[in-house]
Amino acid sequence: MKIIITEDKASGSKKAFDLFKGSIANGTKVIGLATGSTPVTLYQQWTESDLDNSNLISINLDEYVGLTPDNDQSYHYFMQKNLFDKKPFKHSYVPDGIKAIKDPEGASADYNRIIAENPIDLQLLGLGQNGHIAFNEPGTSFDSVTHEVKLTENTIKANSRFFNNIDDVPKSAICMGIANIMSAKEIVIMAFGDNKADAVQKMVEGPVTEDVPASVLQQHQNVTLIVDQAAASKL
Ligand code: GLP
Repeated sequence: MKIIITEDKASGSKKAFDLFKGSIANGTKVIGLATGSTPVTLYQQWTESDLDNSNLISINLDEYVGLTPDNDQSYHYFMQKNLFDKKPFKHSYVPDGIKAIKDPEGASADYNRIIAENPIDLQLLGLGQNGHIAFNEPGTSFDSVTHEVKLTENTIKANSRFFNNIDDVPKSAICMGIANIMSAKEIVIMAFGDNKADAVQKMVEGPVTEDVPASVLQQHQNVTLIVDQAAASKL
């Protein structure tokens, strides 16, 4: 794993953006995208750049079950506002959180087919405080593909800051599995702030274990971790 430590989130996001730009210039066509607060600055730099996405395909990691794309807490909406409205892709895929209410297996199978038809060149990831990637919580099999995930109390609490009320946070999500993520040719994972320091330490230095989903990245051939000094403080 290549580790880049930057002073703060802004400079880390700039590094990530340069990496994305270089990769696209070198032929990357399918980009795996993430939500959460971590990539927001990167997306801001992207929308302000001259980068053209119209020949690229994006595939997002996850979506809450039960939220329509126009719900402002959905990940569809997040991507639309933060990136797609200003920089549309040729095609953007996000899991179908509505189909998943009645048919989570069908929604998952659809998404696995999309990933199989569009192998991911470059995958962006954030990191959960408990070491989760996308919504793959501790204990998720490294062999998992897209599936419905029951969110842990920890994740519901962490994500409740985006909702009016903790009871509004959906209890489950449709999310790419660890095997889908590991199939990407290249992975960039970012983590900023001291609340990520424990997870960063376990991901990089701890044993590779399903108890820390992100630790699987130690087994990938082409991963770049971008962290600020606070998130790197326990390395
Ligand atoms: C959520 C998302 C993840 C994200 C993580 C960290 O659970 N499903 O994709 O990486 O939270 O969020 P944040 O970037 O806001 O710290």
